[in-house]
This record gives sequence, C-alpha cells and structure tokens, in this order.
Amino acid sequence: MTLTLHVNGRDHVITSDPDTPLAYVLRDELKLKGTKLGCGLEQCGACAVLVDGQAVLSCVSSAASFAGRDINTIEAVGETDIGRRVQAAFVAQSAAQCGYCTAGLVIAATSLLGRHPLPDDTAITEALTPHICRCGSHPRVLRAVKQAAET
Ligand code: FES
Ligand code: FES
Repeated sequence: MTLTLHVNGRDHVITSDPDTPLAYVLRDELKLKGTKLGCGLEQCGACAVLVDGQAVLSCVSSAASFAGRDINTIEAVGETDIGRRVQAAFVAQSAAQCGYCTAGLVIAATSLLGRHPLPDDTAITEALTPHICRCGSHPRVLRAVKQAAET
C-alpha cells in the first residue's frame, strides 16, 4: 500500500519502508535536513516536528503512523506568524550556539505559543524540558521564547 505524508503544506508519496521512523524519511527521502537526529531514542528533542500543531518527536515512531496528519518541519516554521516571531527572537537573543538542538527548540516554542500566547516561566520550562542543549543555551532560549510571546 502506498504511504502518503502531508509535509510542509503538500502531499508526498513515500517510497521508504513505512516502518521507517519519520525523521529518517524526512531527512533521507524528502531531503528536509533541518530536522536533526541526536539520540534516536526519544531522549533529546532534536528531532521534534509539528504534527497538527503539536511538537512531536520523530526519531522512533514509524512514518506510517503519521499518515493523514499535518506535519510541519523547521523548514516551514517561518511561514506562520508565530514561527516567524520565534525564529526572530532566537536570532535576537543569540539562542543558538552550535545549533544542533535549535530546530527542535524552535518547534517546541512554536507549538507552545500556538496553545498559550503568553506562557509563564513554568509553562515555558515544561515545554522545553524534553530538549537537551549540550551548549547550555537554555537561559538564552528562555529569553527568546519570552520575547517571541511579547512581540
Ligand atoms: S533524536 Fe529524537 S529525541 Fe533525540
Ligand atoms: S546550541 Fe548546541 S546543542 Fe544546543
């Protein structure tokens, strides 16, 4: 059976094994390399994508399990007002160091602000907790999310 995924606003017929984790299909078949692979074990947050507006880890769940869902990767985040504000705030606050975790964090922040336009520190911390940053950028990320909420 053919697998079709709706990614970044359009349908893609997928030729990879449907059991392949979504992140590999995004990166290797669709060439959307902005979604990063870190642990591959749902432990670091690097692979987060938006699925029906929610931040979802993509490194373990099969591509087939995302059929019929609205998937948006970091490549499309800037097409929404919230995503644009989050990206601009990350730049303004220098919230990326090596940048490996950044796509996942931007996805998480965009998802959060879609649900809570003015989140408090607790809500921001909860949303970002699944995301590990080995460079220690968390204070700047926190400031960026607040700036994005207030602009
Ligand atoms: S690569 Fe998916 S959570 Fe680490
Ligand atoms: S900026 Fe390097 S891992 Fe977060």
